[in-house]
Amino acid sequence: MKILFRSNRLCLRFINKNYSTAPKSLATVNVNGKEYRTDDYTNITPKITSYINRNLHLKKDNPLSLVRQRIVNYFYGSFTHGGNPSFSVYDNLSPIVTSRQNFDDLLIPEDHPSRAKSDCYYINSSTLLRAHMTAHQSELLRAGLDNFLMIGDVYRRDEIDSTHFPVFHQVDAVRLQRKHDLFENHPDLDIFEPSFDPWNPHAYTNSISNPTKQSCHTLEATKLMEAQLKNHLIGMVKVLFGDDIKYRWVDAYFPFTHPSWELEIYYENDWMEVLGCGIMRNEILANAGPNNSIAYAFGLGLERLAMALYKIPDIRLMWSTDSGFLSQFQNKDVNASIEYKPVSSYPQCTNDLSFWLPPTLTIDSFMSNDFYDLVRDIGGDVVEQVKLKDKFVHPKTKKHSLCYSIVYRHLERTLTQAEVNKIHDEIARATVNAFNVVIR
Ligand code: DAH
Repeated sequence: MKILFRSNRLCLRFINKNYSTAPKSLATVNVNGKEYRTDDYTNITPKITSYINRNLHLKKDNPLSLVRQRIVNYFYGSFTHGGNPSFSVYDNLSPIVTSRQNFDDLLIPEDHPSRAKSDCYYINSSTLLRAHMTAHQSELLRAGLDNFLMIGDVYRRDEIDSTHFPVFHQVDAVRLQRKHDLFENHPDLDIFEPSFDPWNPHAYTNSISNPTKQSCHTLEATKLMEAQLKNHLIGMVKVLFGDDIKYRWVDAYFPFTHPSWELEIYYENDWMEVLGCGIMRNEILANAGPNNSIAYAFGLGLERLAMALYKIPDIRLMWSTDSGFLSQFQNKDVNASIEYKPVSSYPQCTNDLSFWLPPTLTIDSFMSNDFYDLVRDIGGDVVEQVKLKDKFVHPKTKKHSLCYSIVYRHLERTLTQAEVNKIHDEIARATVNAFNVVIR
C-alpha cells in the first residue's frame, strides 16, 4: 500500500507480455454488470472483478469500517456550521473511473509511471479501476462541493506479502477556503499574488519551481493553509493513536499538490508513513470551477491504520468472513481499544518455482506484477507471499532464469502438502502458457 505518486517510485518497466485471464478473443468484458470494449490495455482479471461490491469499508463490524467511522467522526466534530457538520462524505462512488479522472484531471503527466499497465487494472485504455480515491476530486469540486471526504476501495497491481493486497481502501479529503474564510481576521491579506488574475487562470503559468509555494499563491495563504492542514491531521492521528504518538513531517512530491508532505508516526520501533497531503494545485481547482479559493487535500490508506491499531498481522484477514475474526470486532464501540488475537495460526507451506525465460525476455523485462496476478488468480487467498528467491544468467547459453518461493497458508485451517502441490502445479502450468517459460 505504498503511496503511489512519489517521484522516486521505480516502476516504469516495459511491457512485452500482457498476462490476463480474460479471454483475448472477446471484444468486450463484463465488469459489474456492464459490458466494456477491450483493447491491448485490458488486464483486469475475473479474480479482481470479484472484489468489486465487497464494500468492506461499509461493513459495520469490519475493522476498516471502524477506522473509517472514527475518521469521519473526527471530521464531523472538527468543523461544524450552525450545528451541522460542514464536511460531506462520499463512500459509495463506483470504482470504475476514466483515465481522465484517475490521471489527467489531477495533472499526472502522460508518461508518469503510475499510469503503466503494470501498475493499474485497466478495463480498456480509457477506463480503469481507480488507483486512488483522489480520482473523484475534480468531479466533486465541479458539483460545487467545498469540504468533502471520499472513501472507498482502490485497485493496484502489486507484490504479494502480508501488507500488500491488490485491493485496499482509502480516505481522501478536500477542504477549500475562500478569502473571507481564510483571512476572516486579516481582510487586507489575499490568497493570490497581485500579479495573478484568478479570473484568467489559464493565461497564467502557475509555476511550482519554488519549493515553498505555488507561484500564484501568496506565502501567507500557503502558510496558513499548511498550518491548518498539519494541525488537523495531527489531531486526527492523536484521536486514533493517543496524545503521546510521535510523528514527523517529510517533504514529498505529488503531481496534484504543491507543496506536499507525508506524515509518519513512530510505531513499533519504526517510522510508518500514514498519509500524503498538500496544497491543491490551483489549475485543478480552476479547471473544476472554483477559481477564487485555495484548498488542501490529503489521502490515507485504511488497511495500514487498522493493522496498526488492532495489531492485525496479515492484510488478507480484512477479507475474512470467518466468525473467529469478525466476532472480535462485532458490536464494539468504535473507539474501543481492540487487540486482535489470532484464532490460531496454521502452518505455512513453501514451494519454489524456477523457470528459464524465453529468449525474448530478460530478468529485467519480465513483468513480475503479471506473474503475481497469475499466482493470485490460481492460488487465490491461500497465497500468503511470493518472493523472488534467485535470479541467474547461464554463462554459456546466456539464458535468464528466475526462482520464486511461493508461501501458502490458509487463514482458517491447515493445508495439506498434497493440496498445496496441486495448486502449485497449476500455477506452474499457467506460467508456462502465459509467459512461454520452461520450468527447471
Ligand atoms: N492519492 C495519493 C496516493 O494514493 C495520496 C494523496 C496524496 C492524496 C496527496 C491526496 C493528496 O489527496 O493531497 O498515493
